[in-house]
Amino acid sequence: VVEPVETQDLAGRRVVVSAGGTREAIDPVRFIGNRSSGRQGVALARAAAARGADVTLVAANLAQDVTDQVVSGPRACSVVRVESTAELREAVRSAGADADVVVMAAAVADFRPAVTPDAKIKKVPGQGPAPIELVENPDILAELAHERLRPDQVVVGFAAETGDASGSVLEHGRAKARRKGADLIAVNAVGSGRGFGTDSNEVTLLDGAGDVVGQASGSKREVADALWDAVAKLLP
Ligand code: CTP
Ligand code: CA
Repeated sequence: VVEPVETQDLAGRRVVVSAGGTREAIDPVRFIGNRSSGRQGVALARAAAARGADVTLVAANLAQDVTDQVVSGPRACSVVRVESTAELREAVRSAGADADVVVMAAAVADFRPAVTPDAKIKKVPGQGPAPIELVENPDILAELAHERLRPDQVVVGFAAETGDASGSVLEHGRAKARRKGADLIAVNAVGSGRGFGTDSNEVTLLDGAGDVVGQASGSKREVADALWDAVAKLLP
């Protein structure tokens, strides 16, 4: 087997990739979470490292076997483990302060409980559950895109869409690209076994204006390499 010669087009570049899904505590034993496996984010981190980048992976609740893929070997990534959206935001902004590229591949909880008691919430037999009041989390990607922690920093996001009565997957992705202000948005269809937890993916790459600039499908690694190709073109 002849190993492909990796291009080193990201040599000397610092990149930050967030992966996984954030969890918001309801009480000390329960949380609100999502089904992101983190595999696409980890594939992005590994691909960038293989292309010569200095990579920090901000890992939100990744399974141990997924994290193990990036912490060892000659092209190891630095890993910062986080749980909540607040922790993810701090870690991404701190590592992102001197990064050339920030990729938000994590599935970030949109809302968190307004209050988190220190003690476990008890059920009172015969009485229904108390409602959980939620508040909105900051939009980390939109903040990064609008503030720019560094001039010339390339900011990349994902848009997981199902499509619904008000629009197709691509239409929702296009609206999101314009709203976020990122340089690139990778739109992928999720639901019915697509996107989450599988080893393949299919994405359409949009620029900040919502125009299609690329398409990639295949293994998460192939999708990752297509995304880095698009990023490399944007780097100064
Ligand atoms: N994202 C983020 N901070 C949030 C929510 C999302 O940084 N609070 C990022 C995700 O990491 C992803 C992109 O924004 O790169 C799109 O996430 P998505 O959940 O698809 O978009 P939302 O803006 O949250 O819209 P909605 O969930 O309503 O579709
Ligand atoms: Ca969301």
